[in-house]
Amino acid sequence: MNKFKVAIIGAGHIAESHYRGFVLHGAEVTAVVNHNIAKAEAFAKERGIKHFYSSMEELLSSDAEFDIVSICTPNSSHKDIAIKSLRAGKHVYSEKPPAMNAKETLEMVEESKKTDKKLIFAFNNRARKGALELKKRIDEGKMGDINSIQSEWVRREGIPGFGGWFTNKELSGGGPVIDLVHMLDLSLYMMGYPEAEYVLASNFDTFIDNPDFSRGQVVGNLPVNVESASHAMITFKDGRNIFSRASWAEMIEEENCAITLQGTKAGAKLTRISRDKKKDLLEWYEGENTSDVYDSDGEMGRLDLIGMFLKALNGECVALPDAEQALTLMKIIDAIYASAQAKTPINVSELFNS
Ligand SMILES: NC(=O)c1ccc[n+]([C@@H]2O[C@H](COP(=O)([O-])OP(=O)(O)OC[C@H]3O[C@@H](n4cnc5c(N)ncnc54)[C@H](O)[C@@H]3O)[C@@H](O)[C@H]2O)c1
Repeated sequence: MNKFKVAIIGAGHIAESHYRGFVLHGAEVTAVVNHNIAKAEAFAKERGIKHFYSSMEELLSSDAEFDIVSICTPNSSHKDIAIKSLRAGKHVYSEKPPAMNAKETLEMVEESKKTDKKLIFAFNNRARKGALELKKRIDEGKMGDINSIQSEWVRREGIPGFGGWFTNKELSGGGPVIDLVHMLDLSLYMMGYPEAEYVLASNFDTFIDNPDFSRGQVVGNLPVNVESASHAMITFKDGRNIFSRASWAEMIEEENCAITLQGTKAGAKLTRISRDKKKDLLEWYEGENTSDVYDSDGEMGRLDLIGMFLKALNGECVALPDAEQALTLMKIIDAIYASAQAKTPINVSELFNS
């Protein structure tokens, strides 16, 4: 097993999970980069990381050794950091969303092909134990054909980083549609990533300017100009559909993070138990209904997906979120925004080719 060396870019909230995931699975974090050098230094010193820098350019011209770049920066910077890293001959493990839109994602995918380096996005919910079990049953044919999925990640008071980059469209690309993209990715993954035909969506900005819906997380005073909720219907060329609902602020009982599937042989529902993020509930509806609870890595699969990525780099056959799927996903995200703005159904391929 190779001992891979990793450079983490962005020393904020999610960087800690990346650090723990890589170390847990046998890699060494050798460098960290943060615009604010004091943050990079503190992150490095607290964890015994040898090098710290304030920019990608500094990292790339340094003598730090690394094979993998782990991207933990705001969404608007994913594309540039990924492309620089791939061109420098590094594999890339990037946070979600892949980029700001499908066009940027395509550039990243093409660069990964050109350089023959891996480009993986952190769709960590696929690595949750309940999700792995559900996918296994689907692959074994136990559900039959999946006709439809309802994908839902909704929150009552969950606006992240109010006034910072998360709530600023120019830096984030959007609100919950692009931030809580995990359940839509998981639904598409369970369906085998079919080709989308139309999207009809409505986005809402109710409560988005109310810091009371951010659980006290007011971090800056950038313009708050993203949606607070979105309800969207996606139809596929093969006649199936996904209804996707994502919100940071809606009048609901409590946060819900789940996908509900209807197949020709069985139905199922996979829920992250919100009071205990370590646990997944997998309900299975066929004859006698069953429900099983699965333990995850405590971080919604974040640590386990990194382990799977390292295994794949070592040549083991592991099903990872592939970059082409990320492009398909981002075309749908673009279509959700376009439909909500135009208030009409959007043909996904026509939008991308326009
Ligand atoms: N997979 C998940 O479950 C999950 C959860 C939370 C966040 N995320 C994603 O992780 C990414 C980061 O989110 P976060 O919550 O850690 O944000 P954060 O604001 O806490 O941290 C981002 C850090 O990056 C630094 N930074 C910004 N631009 C930079 C650049 N060009 N070069 C170097 N450093 C830069 C900032 O100073 C900050 O320290 C986002 O893409 C977000 O969507 C994913």
